[in-house]
Amino acid sequence: MIDPLIEPLIDPFGRTLDYLRVSITDRCNLRCVYCMPPAGVEWKPHDSMLRFEEIIRLCGIMAAMGIRRVKVTGGEPLVRKGTAPFIRSLKAIRGIEQVTITTNGLLLDTFLNEAGDAAQGEWIAAQQAAIPDAFNISLDSLNPERFARITRSPPELSAEYMPQKILSIINDLLKKNIPLKINCVPVRGFNEEDMVPIAALAKDKKIAVRFIELMPMGIASALKPIPNNEVASILEKQFGPLTPFAGKLGNGPARYYTLKGFLGNIGFISPLSHNFCESCNRLRLSSGGILQPCLSSDIGTDLRLLLRGNASDAELANAIMELVLQKPRSHTFLDLPAAAPAGLKNSMYRIGG
Ligand code: 5AD
Ligand code: SF4
Repeated sequence: MIDPLIEPLIDPFGRTLDYLRVSITDRCNLRCVYCMPPAGVEWKPHDSMLRFEEIIRLCGIMAAMGIRRVKVTGGEPLVRKGTAPFIRSLKAIRGIEQVTITTNGLLLDTFLNEAGDAAQGEWIAAQQAAIPDAFNISLDSLNPERFARITRSPPELSAEYMPQKILSIINDLLKKNIPLKINCVPVRGFNEEDMVPIAALAKDKKIAVRFIELMPMGIASALKPIPNNEVASILEKQFGPLTPFAGKLGNGPARYYTLKGFLGNIGFISPLSHNFCESCNRLRLSSGGILQPCLSSDIGTDLRLLLRGNASDAELANAIMELVLQKPRSHTFLDLPAAAPAGLKNSMYRIGG
């Protein structure tokens, strides 16, 4: 274990923060209805994004302050070039015990090859050094038409093939014994019919399928969630009772269940119907270098400005600690007026879920 550089990250409500979500890009190769605007995420000059070396430096400082797990997110993280060597460097940081990634899976085969590329004869070892310890794969439908509609994928991206491709990637990862979870966001009018087939993936595969209640952020505020209790009753009708799962799975706010005859588990992440903020353990770093204490808040510290103004490690650590002291007690999704037209300013592609 490493010595803490300064105080460990404990917020004013006594929560120890040991988990960092890092968004490495705002861009994505899909445009899911609840996450991305239909066209054109504003173009940002390269310089406005943190360079990988800058992220590694910040993660090193935060590891010295008690961050133990890092989740790499986007946008779609695998659209950024050089993600494999970046992950390798993240995994090598002293104090970081786990590096995971959230991806839509479409570029995973390219990524796995990139991970092995620098190997020079030791492909498997090099690939292992650069692949995350676990994957979260977003999958909202197995039906080609519904998949295309919810991801707004253009017809030339052959919807027929996309859910199939993601399934084959899932099988590949399982063959390699890499832990994985599926994330599904149920949206009224888009994927009601997919709850059962997506949950059924956990029947003969040792994976966790998680249903995430739609959060009214950015563009998602115009859509209707399907509450998790409704998803649960759809599943119980089909598969029998959901029994709480006693084992430990993941580091986050999901509650896990088992179903009779299932190898895997079903998880529910219910930010609205079950506020989980009291055990929140996380900070978020946007691709532009804003460190945020909570996905529902507009508070943030511009670490890019500090990094590029030649701040020392101690100055950066102080700025990080100051932000932690402003972490809100809980999210404010339920405080929004029902008719709030634009919802919260943040969209997931900006702050990485
Ligand atoms: N509400 C709930 N989940 C969302 N995601 C993206 N936007 C939202 C939202 N508004 C999901 C993605 C991904 C995970 C990181 O968050 O589908 O799986
Ligand atoms: Fe934590 Fe904010 Fe999420 Fe609540 S909404 S769990 S405080 S990040």
